[in-house]
This record gives sequence, structure tokens and C-alpha cells, in this order.
Amino acid sequence: MPALRASLVALIPLLLHLTTSTQDDLHYVNPLIGSTAGGNVFAGASLPYGLAKPVADVDGQNTGGFATDGSNVTGFSHMHDSGTGGNPSMGQFPLFPQYCPDNVIDNCKFPKGARATHYVNDSVTARPGYFALELVNGIKAEMTAARRTALYRFTFPDASAENGERLDPLILLDLTDLWDSRQNASITIDADSGRIQGNGTFLPSFGAGSYQAYFCADFAGAKVCDSGIWVNDRAGSEPKELFVTRGFNNFYLQAGGYISFDRPNNGMVTVRVGVSYISTDQACSNAESEVSDPLNDFETLEEAARTAWREKLSPIKITPGGVSHGSLSAFWSGIYRTMLSPQEMTGENPLWESDEPYFDSFYCLWDEFRAQLPLLTVIDPQAQSKMVRSLLDTFKHEGWLPDCRMSLCKGWTQGGSNADVVLADAYVKNLTGIDWELAYKAMVNDAENEPLEWSYEGRGGLQSWKKLHYIPYLDFDYLGFGTNSRSVSRTVEYAYNDHGIALVGKGLGTTDYMTYLSRASNWKNLFKADQKSFLENGTDTGFTGFLQPRHLNGTWGFQDPIACSALASWCSLTSNPSETFESSIWEYLFFVPHDMASLIKLLGGSDSFVKRLDYFHTSGLADISNEPVFLTVYEYHYAGRPALSAQRAHSYIPRTFNESNNGLPGNDDSGAMGSFLAWSMMGLFPNPGQNVYLISPPFFEAVEITHPETNKTATIRNTNFDSTYQNIYIQSAKLNGKPYTKNWIDHEFFTEGMTLELMLGDKESNWGTSKEDLPPSLSDVLAQDEVQ
Ligand SMILES: *[C@@H]1O[C@H](CO)[C@@H](O)[C@H](O)[C@H]1NC(C)=O
Ligand SMILES: *[C@@H]1O[C@H](CO)[C@@H](O)[C@H](O)[C@H]1NC(C)=O
Ligand SMILES: *[C@@H]1O[C@H](CO)[C@@H](O)[C@H](O)[C@H]1NC(C)=O
Ligand SMILES: *[C@@H]1O[C@H](CO)[C@@H](O)[C@H](O)[C@H]1NC(C)=O
Ligand SMILES: *[C@@H]1O[C@H](CO)[C@@H](O)[C@H](O)[C@H]1NC(C)=O
Ligand SMILES: *[C@@H]1O[C@H](CO)[C@@H](O)[C@H](O)[C@H]1NC(C)=O
Ligand SMILES: *[C@@H]1O[C@H](CO)[C@@H](O)[C@H](O)[C@H]1NC(C)=O
Ligand SMILES: *[C@@H]1O[C@H](CO)[C@@H](O)[C@H](O)[C@H]1NC(C)=O
Ligand SMILES: *[C@@H]1O[C@H](CO)[C@@H](O)[C@H](O)[C@H]1NC(C)=O
Repeated sequence: MPALRASLVALIPLLLHLTTSTQDDLHYVNPLIGSTAGGNVFAGASLPYGLAKPVADVDGQNTGGFATDGSNVTGFSHMHDSGTGGNPSMGQFPLFPQYCPDNVIDNCKFPKGARATHYVNDSVTARPGYFALELVNGIKAEMTAARRTALYRFTFPDASAENGERLDPLILLDLTDLWDSRQNASITIDADSGRIQGNGTFLPSFGAGSYQAYFCADFAGAKVCDSGIWVNDRAGSEPKELFVTRGFNNFYLQAGGYISFDRPNNGMVTVRVGVSYISTDQACSNAESEVSDPLNDFETLEEAARTAWREKLSPIKITPGGVSHGSLSAFWSGIYRTMLSPQEMTGENPLWESDEPYFDSFYCLWDEFRAQLPLLTVIDPQAQSKMVRSLLDTFKHEGWLPDCRMSLCKGWTQGGSNADVVLADAYVKNLTGIDWELAYKAMVNDAENEPLEWSYEGRGGLQSWKKLHYIPYLDFDYLGFGTNSRSVSRTVEYAYNDHGIALVGKGLGTTDYMTYLSRASNWKNLFKADQKSFLENGTDTGFTGFLQPRHLNGTWGFQDPIACSALASWCSLTSNPSETFESSIWEYLFFVPHDMASLIKLLGGSDSFVKRLDYFHTSGLADISNEPVFLTVYEYHYAGRPALSAQRAHSYIPRTFNESNNGLPGNDDSGAMGSFLAWSMMGLFPNPGQNVYLISPPFFEAVEITHPETNKTATIRNTNFDSTYQNIYIQSAKLNGKPYTKNWIDHEFFTEGMTLELMLGDKESNWGTSKEDLPPSLSDVLAQDEVQ
């Protein structure tokens, strides 16, 4: 049919044009990026900030449920966190589909270890709102999600026993979670309707206490033929309910319920699982209201999820300028992951009554304050405002701002009280709808009152902080208790937290803000000017002047400046607790976000600062896999060398952040890593807690960001852009058509929708290098105040 072929050929350019101009950026999102090699991302189906998060759970690297690490599937569960390290989070009440050989119930595999089954590698399909895979036994699982309801379709191949009898599909539900943290649980099975409901008490994966979760599962599309309970590897159709405990000697009883079916002709059994943190009844009503017609709602739900995600991504428009599909995929997927968590749980908080929004899975603010929450402030300010209100409501009802929070429990504090930075960031960016008097009260509470348990709220060592102006090594602190370590990293973080308090206090016209402003310089009290640093083979790094731990009496303690870096051993809260948390003195010395000018002066001026920062990034001391490194990539700006920040960003992207399944250098930490990538590629990097964005050329020809509240569009456009990244140095810039030499810009760029045009070249220029072009530093501001 030559005529048809001819018209098709004529159509092709038109089609190509259509696909580029009506481009749907959602198709770039690949939820599997970071699904192996420690990214720990949640790869399943979710709405933005959704509570229901169904995915396949594996028995390998399963903190986010699924991983492409070659491990086996143990079930399909409904709630997860994303990107976290340590113990796997949630994953309650997994379902597992199978056939029992010869239709003999005891031939089925009930406990996790026994039932674990591999999947067909190339059967994994993950896209926003949808996840699917096929087990090697031929059973296919598909899932999508509403806000608090997971919807599954299990398709069973036709199968017969040796005697020719047709096998009956069986689906079990396990009263467990990923971490086997279940304490008590109950299950009830209704033999007529096939509804299974129940509850359980579980432990948070990085925090204190316990929490209750509830479920309500309904089955559709197949006739129920049998149901019952199972305990360890035995099952029976009676009784229809069960209560399990942890066991006196902590023996972990594996138990749950099951249902078997007459295989329908299409082989498909649909399961709707409503979840709740309030009650089983609420789990059922969530399911009924969100998915009223399980057999027919699957496509509708998936489409609703796609629409919701499309809308969340819509403030950003990219003009690629010839960059690869892979770069675009890494970028959009990074943005996508910043909205998986925190999770909106308004209406699902059993802990207090309130009309305020409730968000959970701030996991942890120590990770999220640096780039993720500032990103949401730009692309989803309404959600960010609700999150801040939720933090404040938590303060109101629990007495403290959270530092880390998951599964309705208080999570372990890693360093300072970094909710203070989140609030300061919201304040300087005019986030609306926030009770600032309450916010200031909450921040001052962190700075003034020491809790008994500063392992999960507030700060420790406050007596020393106020009297000695540093956190001492081996502090004498009888007021409160936490892991008595991290004196160096807590000192630098408390200083920055106090800076945030001072900013808000000053804005509100308080009289005490100067107290916090002066404490913001406390980091200097741990600077030991003659401290040297040697590599493990004894080579002198050549740099002098580092932070050091300090005793109560003012004399110096010692921690090797390279300890806890990638060149030495890992330090965390419980593994090798040290005076720095999860990073070295080398890295923490660069954490003076509010007073880089003082730091640079202390380290001998710009040239020697740049030399030190270069050494840090090229020697293996910089740990790109963990959040404290983020700002250091861009600190060249403060030394008047913005070109080197651009160069440094390109040295990490795409080498360590890319579109592969192993494309994250470390735990995504609820989207923190994704946000670092997204900001870097957009050409701005926030200094969180200040009204400052550091300017570098975007990795695309142009980026447009429409502010969701003012509707104004901010544009950053590269002239002379080349997608091979030879031209990554700004030669000159124009803001709204006028020459612009500052190497930073403030938040009004977004709210007012300004246009920044960057002229690029292949060599460093003198753009943004003069003293008056640098971002503000506290010591400059104070000096100016003195002059006035
Ligand atoms: C599936 O992928 C895993 C992880 O990459 C690998 O270990 C395994 O050999 C693969 N299996 C097959 C059948 O290709
Ligand atoms: C996965 O299960 C298969 C049997 O289905 C087993 O041979 C294999 O060793 C398991 N893989 C892992 C990583 O445990
Ligand atoms: C478990 O149940 C027992 C018996 O009802 C009860 O005493 C205990 O407090 C429960 N433990 C938890 C952690 O819920
Ligand atoms: C869990 O369900 C059982 C059985 O319905 C019920 O007795 C128990 O009170 C429930 N527990 C909680 C914490 O709701
Ligand atoms: C915040 O609001 C104030 C008062 O309306 C305004 O002067 C300031 O420019 C705003 N700041 C930002 C970052 O939008
Ligand atoms: C010590 O280690 C550094 C970094 O690996 C290396 O550059 C240097 O040559 C080593 N020096 C000696 C004396 O081995
Ligand atoms: C200071 O305290 C440290 C640690 O307790 C002790 O080793 C040192 O001798 C003290 N120095 C003075 C001068 O008191
Ligand atoms: C992608 O990033 C990962 C994690 O940092 C890294 O191991 C891998 O080599 C990178 N891949 C490419 C092709 O650069
Ligand atoms: C922005 O656009 C939305 C949706 O069109 C509209 O509801 C809102 O009023 C607009 N806001 C402003 C400030 O124009």
C-alpha cells in the first residue's frame, strides 16, 4: 500500500513536532533510579505525598521495599518510606499470591523465608502511579494507589495438579512488616465476603516508641473457595481470627490469614487494601470511599495519580538544548522523589485532635532542610506551608519541634535542631499561612530548654552552650540524655540553628534576637588554629587550622580531622560514635552557611580557601553520598570563584548522580539527593535558612519555573549553551535585561518571575568575582551595622 506509506512519511515530521511540543515530562520519571547500590528509593506507586505506597518487597536491600539487587520477593505491601538508611521502614501486612501444589493448603509456603520467590528481571515496570512485575512462577502483580488505599491485580497463569485438577489461586496476608518489628497483631476473616481486616503494633525504623497500623483488604474478580489463618508453616480454615504476640522469649511467630479462589477465566484477582493509623473501621471506609469499584477502578486510579504528578511537575519547564534523554530522566526523577515523602497524614493522626494539617515521614530534617524542603518552597509552596504548620502543630501538642519523625514516632536527632533552619527558610521566603509567633516560641524552646531526652528532641548540653559557648567533649550534663558524642558537629549545627532563630526574631521585632546572633558565631570556639591534618600514610595534607573537640575546662581534646571521612572509618550514632556525625572534621569545618566570609578569612583568604576546598573534593575526603557535602560543592561562590562551583558540580554530575538504577551515590533520604541534583541542574543552589540562591549555569539551555501562587514565571536562559558542557562558565549575566554581576539572587526571582540570561564561555571570567558580588555573610552585615 504505497499510498499509505507515502502519507505516513509525510506525517512523521508533524508527529515528531507534536511529541516535542506537547511533551509530557512525566514520561522522563523513572522510579527505579536509585533502586540498587544503596539509593533505597521507594520504586512503587504513590500519589504526591501519598500515604499508601504499594510495591513489591524483597529480602535484600529492602529499606524502601523493593530493590533491583537480585534479591527475592517476599510480598506486596502498602506503606513505605523512601530513600532511608538503617532499618527497613513499614511494609506492614504484605500480600503474597501463590498456588498450593495439589491444592493442599499445607503445601503452600507461608513464612517469609519459605515463600520468597525471584521475579523475571525484565518484567519490572515502574512509572508514576504504577508498579508491576512477574514472579518466576508466572504470577503477575500490578499495583496502583489512592491516598490511603492500595489496589492490586494478581494474574495467575492456568495451572493444574498432577492429577489434572485445576489449581486454586491463594493469597495470604502476613501480620508482619519489613523489619519483623511486629509486637502484637490481630486478624479477622469474613468467610462470606472474603474481607480480611486487622491491626498490629510495630516499631519505628529510626526512633522511639511504637505505633499501631490498621488494614482492611477486600478481594474481587474471583469466587472465594476457602479462607482461614496460618501460623508458621501450617494453615487451617478454622478459626477465622487470630491474635499474635511477640512471644515471651522474643520468638517471632509468623502468622496471618489466607483466601483461596476459583481461578477466573482471565486469571485475575483484584485486591483493595485500605490502610489507616486510626482504626480498622477507618481503613475500611478509606478504601470504600477512595476505591468504590475495585474491579473497574484500576485504570482510573492510575490516571488520577498521573494527573496529580503531572500537576506537581508542571511549575517547571525545561528547554533541553540537546542534552540526553538520560539527563532529563535523572532530573525529572529527582524532582519526583522530593514529593514521595514527607507523607500527608491529615485525618490519620491518632495522637492529638487538631484542625491543622499533619505530615509524617520527615525522615530526617537533617537531610531535608538543605535542598529538598527549599525546593518544595519554590515548586509547591502550599504543601511546604502545610508541612511547616504540621511541624508547629507537633510542637504545640508534643512540646518539641521534630527533628526526625516517622510512623507517628519521634526519630533520633542527628545533630542540631534543624527544624529551626526549616522555619527560618520559610520565614525569609515569606511562606504564607504560618503563625510566626508560635514558630518563634518553638525555635526559642529548642535553644533555651533542654529536654530530658535530647536523643529525639531539642538539644543537649545547653548549660555549656550558654556558658562556654561550645558543646564540650565529655560534657558534664545532668539535665538531659542522648548519645554523648558529636560535640563538634553539634556545635556547628547549633550555631547555624541559632542564626535562624536570630533571623526570625529580628524580623518579628523581638528584643532577644541579639543573644542568638552572638551564639551563631560559637563555631569559632572550636577552631584550633595550629591543628594540622595528615593522611593515613602519614602524608601532611598541608593545611593548618581545623575544628577540634574541646574539654569543659577549655583545653583541647583530639579527633583526627580525616576521621569519619571516606578515607577513614564510618561514624554514626551507634556505629563508632565520634565527635562528628557521619562526616569528618574536614567536612564540618565548611558548615558555616551564614558566615562564609569569616571562615574564608580564618583559613587564610580566598586563595587558600579555594585550595583547601579543591583538596577536600579531590582527595576522597568529601563524601558525596551524604547530605553535609551539598553546600560545599557551591562554596567557591563565597570565595569569588563561581566558575569553580560550576566545574565542581559537573565533576559529580553525571558521574555520581545519573539515570541508572544505581544512579545515586548514597541513600536518597526522602528525596534529599534528588533535590541536590535538581537544584544543581536548574542552575541555582539554595543556602537554606537564608534568602540566597547561588547562580551557576543550568545543565539545560533554559529553565522556567512558574510560581504556583503568584503565577509569575522565572526564567534562567543560557546563551552559548552546549550540551557537551564545555561552556560552563558565566561570562556575563543580565537580570530582566540589565547587567547583573552578583553571583547570587534572592527568592523574589521566583515570586516576581524575573529573567536571568547567562552568557556562557569555556573559560572562567571575572563575572561574579568582586567583593560586592558575593552572597551576604554575617560578619559583613555586622560590620555594616557598626558603620551605620
Ligand atoms: C536478574 O538480575 C539480578 C541482579 O542484577 C542478577 O543477579 C540475576 O542473575 C538476573 N537473573 C537473570 C535470570 O537474568
Ligand atoms: C531467590 O530464590 C531462589 C529460589 O526461588 C533461590 O535459588 C535464590 O538463591 C534466592 N536468591 C537470593 C538472593 O536469596
Ligand atoms: C500485647 O498484648 C498483650 C496482651 O493483650 C498486652 O499485655 C501488651 O501490652 C501488648 N503489647 C503491645 C506492645 O501492644
Ligand atoms: C485490634 O483488633 C482486635 C480484634 O478486632 C481488637 O480486639 C483490638 O482492640 C484491636 N487493637 C487495636 C489497638 O485497635
Ligand atoms: C517578603 O515580603 C515583604 C513584605 O511584603 C517584601 O518586602 C519582601 O520583598 C518579600 N520577600 C521575598 C523574598 O519575597
Ligand atoms: C599517601 O597517600 C596519598 C593519597 O593516596 C598519596 O598521594 C601519597 O603518594 C602517599 N604517600 C606515601 C608516602 O605513600
Ligand atoms: C582539662 O580537662 C581534661 C579532661 O578532663 C584533663 O585531661 C586536663 O588535664 C585538664 N586540664 C587542666 C589544665 O585542667
Ligand atoms: C552513576 O552513578 C553511580 C552512583 O554514584 C555510579 O556508581 C555510576 O558509575 C554512575 N554511572 C555512570 C554511567 O556514570
Ligand atoms: C494563579 O492562577 C490560579 C489558577 O489559574 C488562580 O486561581 C489564581 O488566582 C492565580 N493567582 C494570581 C495571584 O494571579
